[in-house]
Amino acid sequence: MEIGVFIPIGNNGWLISSTSPQYTPSFDLNREIVQRAERYGFDFAMSMIKLRGFGGKSRYWDDNLESFTLMAGLAAVTSRIELYATVAVLTLPPAITARMAMTIDSISHGRFGVNLVTGWQKAEYDQMGLWPGEEHFRHRYDMVTEYVTVMKELWAQGQSDFKGKFFTMNDCRLGPLPSHPIKLISAGTSDAGLDFAARNCTYNFCSGAGGINDPRDCADAVVRLKAASAAAGTSVRALALTMIIADETDEAAMAKWEHYKAGVDLDALDWSRAQAGADKNAAANSTAGRIRGREPLPNSGSKLIGSYATVARLLDEMAEVEGLAGVMLTFDDFVIGVEQFGQRIQPLMRSRRDLAAAA
Ligand SMILES: Cc1cc2nc3c(=O)[nH]c(=O)nc-3n(C[C@H](O)[C@H](O)[C@H](O)COP(=O)(O)O)c2cc1C
Repeated sequence: MEIGVFIPIGNNGWLISSTSPQYTPSFDLNREIVQRAERYGFDFAMSMIKLRGFGGKSRYWDDNLESFTLMAGLAAVTSRIELYATVAVLTLPPAITARMAMTIDSISHGRFGVNLVTGWQKAEYDQMGLWPGEEHFRHRYDMVTEYVTVMKELWAQGQSDFKGKFFTMNDCRLGPLPSHPIKLISAGTSDAGLDFAARNCTYNFCSGAGGINDPRDCADAVVRLKAASAAAGTSVRALALTMIIADETDEAAMAKWEHYKAGVDLDALDWSRAQAGADKNAAANSTAGRIRGREPLPNSGSKLIGSYATVARLLDEMAEVEGLAGVMLTFDDFVIGVEQFGQRIQPLMRSRRDLAAAA
């Protein structure tokens, strides 16, 4: 099973709480995390793009670095781990994203890929005059399909004359060509998002229902993705996203989670819920629909909380989920968490035995 890390490009990572570790993102912090991850044999590191935080007492995600420039810096100080940056397709023309990706392919010697987001949070784009209007919610997957068509033509042939509804290329050129195929990732959970991923991407994230210590939390989403992939006649690979909160004992790890829960930032959560409410027609299984329905917890995704042995066992059980290619990890504290994973968890994992020995 592949293992990745979703690096903390935004303040406080993935815990919306004022009692969890509070930190500002920086290049130095993320270099520290990714270099350690590389040393322990992690397969990939990815950063998101988030252009407007949720505010509240914890100022959740009010501080965020830019994804491509961060990954370009990390590409220069790593040598083996794969790196993915995220593009918010409303903010950059596809020919520019294609060129940025080709540049990071050069810096990283072929270790770079792109995660695509269509945008569910209007304020991110509206604040800079880039919100196309409410019809974007209906058209977003048509738009991103054209977007990747342009990028793929430029990467493959160095030229595009694509004429679509959203983008027009007029003998657009790109050179040098990337040294390796640039993999695409997406994280859609709506039916349209899965269909897009199945047709265009190497990977798609399959979000679970937010269970704690349920290694099969993502299983239904993986089945949905595989069905979309079969319908499209492709073989898109499924990734899961999981937070690890680990300690010497199950009790100590669970006590940390309870402590973070006590500080949940309800104002920040309210703000994100209101943002997700902007798409009036969002399906319950889309990202916006899921955020609207989320419980008032610091993290609404899948979580593995326990001793190092418990977490290793649960990850091994995740590796058995039919069709799951890998898992991308977040941690309450990333430097400590990657270290604990490398030193204490991975060596106990059957599914990572070879890598644990190498590390
Ligand atoms: C692993 C992962 C990464 C994501 N990265 C981003 C991101 O960088 N920026 C963002 O606005 N949303 C991000 N999202 C949220 C949504 O999945 C994404 O906006 C998606 O395009 C919404 O599609 P949907 O409505 O079909 O679910 C991410 C979600 C997951 C699970």
